[in-house]
Amino acid sequence: MKIREIVQTALITAVIIILGLIPPLPLGIIPVPIVMQNLGIMLAALILGPKKGTLAILMFLGLALLGLPVLSGGQAGPAVFIGPTGGYLLGWLLTPWVMGYGLNLSFVNRRFQRLTIIWLFGVLFVDVLGALWLWAITPISLIGALATNLAFISGDTLKAIAAYLVADRLRIWDREPTSM
Ligand code: BTN
Repeated sequence: MKIREIVQTALITAVIIILGLIPPLPLGIIPVPIVMQNLGIMLAALILGPKKGTLAILMFLGLALLGLPVLSGGQAGPAVFIGPTGGYLLGWLLTPWVMGYGLNLSFVNRRFQRLTIIWLFGVLFVDVLGALWLWAITPISLIGALATNLAFISGDTLKAIAAYLVADRLRIWDREPTSM
């Protein structure tokens, strides 16, 4: 990796961590708050692409695993990864790959198609994975977990649009497909 790419990756990791300083908003009905860090995850996936995006998220999650309070609300440590929000964290790690795959599909070349891919993999994929995990490790029913996650969809959709607008401004679509 070139120095420029290392700096870019570290900067996006820093952006994700800074977004974690915005206090999480508890939903009350499930032990999963509204956070802003998933905006950073979508930005990492879009701006850095699959490889560097995954690296940035790995660094961020690695710091959290080591106990640095980088998750929203200052959370950290291995317990978070096997707790109620573990599924979302897994989804975050996979987001750059699945989103990169979707955006690289040859027919995805229009604004609405790109936005749809970002939404499918940056929002729906993560929220469904999070809900399935929540169902698996808490007494919450599958329907309950899926239904309560609907509360995230509108806010997460706005984050997806914001990430799209940033990516569009940076003209990331003009890059080589392999580097996406
Ligand atoms: C954590 O800090 O432990 C992870 C929190 C995950 C919150 C998820 S991300 C998708 C959905 N949208 C939100 O705003 N909150 C949940």
